[in-house]
Amino acid sequence: MNYQWYPGHMTKAVRQMQEDVKLIDLIIELVDARVPYSSKNPDIDEIGKNKSRVILLNKSDLADSGENQKWKNYYSSLGYKVLEIDARNKASLKGIINIVKEACKEKIERDKKRGIMNRPIRAMVVGIPNVGKSTFINSFASKACTKTGNKPGVTKGKQWIRLSKELELLDTPGILWPKFENNTVGERLALIGSINDDIIDKNELSLAMIDFLVSKYSNSLYDRYNIEYKGEKSIEILEQIAAKRGCLIKGGEIDYLKASTLLIDDFRTGKLGRITLDSVQEI
Ligand code: G4P
Repeated sequence: MNYQWYPGHMTKAVRQMQEDVKLIDLIIELVDARVPYSSKNPDIDEIGKNKSRVILLNKSDLADSGENQKWKNYYSSLGYKVLEIDARNKASLKGIINIVKEACKEKIERDKKRGIMNRPIRAMVVGIPNVGKSTFINSFASKACTKTGNKPGVTKGKQWIRLSKELELLDTPGILWPKFENNTVGERLALIGSINDDIIDKNELSLAMIDFLVSKYSNSLYDRYNIEYKGEKSIEILEQIAAKRGCLIKGGEIDYLKASTLLIDDFRTGKLGRITLDSVQEI
């Protein structure tokens, strides 16, 4: 199945970002900690070349904590400033100002030498759909603004959010890119809900998910659904899930779509436990 999804509004958003990047010092990129590679948009590297970069591993509460650390090390080794966050939890955001300042150290020094003091750092916040960008901006803005006594304001027709004298954020729409590197990337983006569900074959996606779980998180799968016959084909495991959870249609036949949707939703909401799909070793 081809998961490619790149509606016209995304092309338009990219063009706008290519313009707006001239106004900023730094790119803050949210990726999904369960798929830190698959959810990292390669077009942003092109748009943001020569800019300081911060990566926020969002939804880290849903991802495997050991893997979070590996991904943090990996992106740090490439020169990014990286932080694990849960955008819903304001306490997890408190290190951001510091890593932003670290990422912009050279610019701050340069400004100082020229006698420019207290010019705010301007950051563009980017990420794929459903990565948690709105949640992040709401949590972060209200936190910083409570602290400084300012209110977030939208000015000059752009989505500028003034957090404090130190930092201004430019919000951008969630975008994907025109051609995924391979089908696994598309599959994983579909699993985290970043691709329109209407174009997805959930049966096929759930079977791929079962294969993955059996290979890496088999206990999470078997325990959650009381799977009895292990080592079966993915379709047979899906049938067991359907039977256990009463996913049946009239006449007692298996409702594959219902069982597939249940499995995918359980993954998306963390009911299967903390799971990371991308692995640093795969790169
Ligand atoms: P977007 O703007 O990037 O499209 O994403 P948005 O903030 O709307 O977040 C998408 C979903 O992800 C929301 O759930 C949001 O609550 C959830 N979310 C965001 N950040 C985190 C995080 O760090 N951890 C976890 N566990 N969830 C996160 P939803 O079910 O679609 O909406 P809601 O009912 O929670 O509002």
